[in-house]
Parts: sequence; C-alpha cells; structure tokens
Amino acid sequence: EKITISVIKADIGGWPGHSRVHPQLIETAEEILAKAKEEGTIIDFYVAYAGDDLQLIMTHKKGVDSPDVHGLAWKAFEEATKVAKELGLYGAGQDLLKDAFSGNVRGMGPGVAEMEITLRKSEPVVTFHMDKTEPGAFNLPIFRMFADPFNTAGLVIDPKMHMGFRFEVWDILKHKRVILNTPEEVYDLLALIGAKSRYVIKRVYPKEGHPIPKDEPVAVVSTEKLYEIAGEYVGKDDPVAIVRAQSGLPALGEVLEPFAFPHLVSGWMRGSHNGPIMPVPMHQANPTRFDGPPRVVALGWQISPEGKLVGPVDLFDDPAFDYARQKALEITDYMRRHGPFEPHRLPLEDMEYTTLPGVLKRLEERFEDIE
Ligand code: 13P
Ligand code: 13P
Ligand code: MG
Ligand code: MG
Ligand code: MG
Repeated sequence: EKITISVIKADIGGWPGHSRVHPQLIETAEEILAKAKEEGTIIDFYVAYAGDDLQLIMTHKKGVDSPDVHGLAWKAFEEATKVAKELGLYGAGQDLLKDAFSGNVRGMGPGVAEMEITLRKSEPVVTFHMDKTEPGAFNLPIFRMFADPFNTAGLVIDPKMHMGFRFEVWDILKHKRVILNTPEEVYDLLALIGAKSRYVIKRVYPKEGHPIPKDEPVAVVSTEKLYEIAGEYVGKDDPVAIVRAQSGLPALGEVLEPFAFPHLVSGWMRGSHNGPIMPVPMHQANPTRFDGPPRVVALGWQISPEGKLVGPVDLFDDPAFDYARQKALEITDYMRRHGPFEPHRLPLEDMEYTTLPGVLKRLEERFEDIE
C-alpha cells in the first residue's frame, strides 16, 4: 500500500515585512490539520516555516493532486489569512491568487511538492524549504545529489546506484517536459538546467532494475511560477522539495552535502537580486539583511510503517554548516557592494518588477541618434 507525502506552502502574510511567519498563523494551520488528522483525511502532519512562507507537511493515502488534501491545505491557508488580516500582517493572503478553490491548488498560488511511494523497510526523507528564491535554486543541489560523483560517493561505490538516475526537466516557459538519463546524458542535462530560471528539475526517478519501482519519484520539487499564474509577477516562488535517502539512494549526508556550497540563486530583495543561499536551522530562517540572504531549511524524517512523520530533525542545526553560513555572509557582503548593478541586480527580464518602462518613456524625447 502506498503513502503520499505532500508539502504545500504559501506566503499568506509576513511579520514584519517579508521576514517571517507569525506564530498565530502556525497555530491556526495546526488546529485545522489536527482536526483533519482526527477525521482521517490525513495520517500525520507538521507545520513549519521558512521566512515568510507557511509550510504544511502531510502524509496520507489519497495520492498526489487529491482534492481532499489540497482542499484541506487551501482551507488552512484561508483560515490563517483571516488571522493575518486581523493582525495586519504584510501581504496578507499574498499567494492565494484565486478566490474559490476548484479541486487542486496547482495554479492557484501555493507551491506543491508531492510523491506517492511504496514505503521501504525504512524510509528516510528530507523536506527542503527555501525562502527568497525560485524553484531553479534546486537545480544545482539536486543534480549534485543524484548525478555528481564528487558529491555522492554512492554513485561510484554503491552497486544499486551505479546505473544512475532519470531526471524530469520542465521548460517552464513553454510548459513542456523532457526526461534525461544520467550518467549518459549529463552534458545535455547540464546544458538545460544551468539555465535555471527556464529549465527546472521537477522530479528524479530511478532507472529500470533499481529496487525502487521505476515510476516512483525519489525527489520532487515545486515548480509553480507565480507570475505566469497571476498574469503578472507577484513574487518569487520560494520553493520546496522532497528527497528520499539511503538504500540505493544518496545517503542522508550526500543529500545535504550540496548545501555546504552556498551557490548563487535569484530572489532576495524584491525578488530581483542574485545572492548566496544560506543553509540554516529553522530558528535562523528569518531573512532580514536586504530581506535575505536567501535561506534553505532541511527537515529530516523517518516515515513509520503506518505513514507517521517521525521528526522533524532540523538538519542544518549542525556546526558542520557554519563554514557555509560564514561563506554565504562573505558573498552577501561582496554582492551587496554592487548596489543596483548586475549581476547582483537581476537582468531586466528576470526582475520581479521594474521602473524601466516609465523611465524610458520619460526620457523618450531626449534620446537622440548617435552619428
Ligand atoms: P553508520 O556506520 O554510522 O551506520 O554509517 C554508515 C554509512 O553508510 C554512512 O554514510
Ligand atoms: P517573498 O517572496 O518571500 O514574499 O519576498 C518578496 C520580497 O519582495 C522580498 O524583498
Ligand atoms: Mg512575502
Ligand atoms: Mg517568501
Ligand atoms: Mg515569494
């Protein structure tokens, strides 16, 4: 029998500004999910936060895209939005882009990562929660976990991993997808996912012959593009991911290792700047400096045989990541010195909003031909 793990998140108001989630929003979501657990809609849940994004982590038996589970998440966000409005939180209801729920939260604003899996004898799982960035921020770390032997020793020394994995990549502009096999097609894969604002890893699958069935994901990333959904840019998507570990998959430490390098991602101030992603424990996931730098939280779980969430373990709460945090701060300082200049500020087409059309209009008359 299969269990589904669903991580559904939304920014429904920041406290203050875009900094963090108010505890009353967490309490409100907990009350609603606790009731649903009692009624049997879900098996188990945990409510977390990353910056100003409220994170619902749930297990159930209803499969992905379940109207019951998505409806539940929507209700939790709606109720918490009422509280956010009472408190006057910033951007209350920011990510709830539609007024009425229609069966599925996809395309309605919240971010979703879900996988339906056959539980192994032991099922270690990591959920990742990012703030102040976009889904493409997962491209580099997911690639390194499942395809880079300098990150994941198991690709070389574990016979079950030696054959490699399959990557499902989405072209989020054209709404198309392609499956690429590693290691055979590593260069093709990198040619796409290096362009991280356009080509985004959606899922990773095992290959034929792996102990895990070929059609069951071993990693999944939320890829909703808010600006396409809303018809205008209403914020970076602050993505989430679910990654399974051990026994023919990257070990827990191989899943976390990519974050020892605080790579540059897009987001940060006004969703319009490049900056390093800093791995932090939840209590440090409150971006403040220039509304950042971008953060990633990793929560570790064992899924019990009945589908209970045994956790979380706050995985970046480890001095082993102090150096990455220190490095991220150095890069933060370095990038900040560029002020409004690229490549700190994003190129025009990737910015969340811009005054440039207005500036150009005002200067229109004053532009003259160059001899
Ligand atoms: P232990 O010996 O602590 O079980 O660790 C085994 C392992 O493979 C770590 O990656
Ligand atoms: P969020 O996407 O986390 O709401 O941040 C938006 C922003 O403009 C930060 O400066
Ligand atoms: Mg916000
Ligand atoms: Mg956010
Ligand atoms: Mg956002």
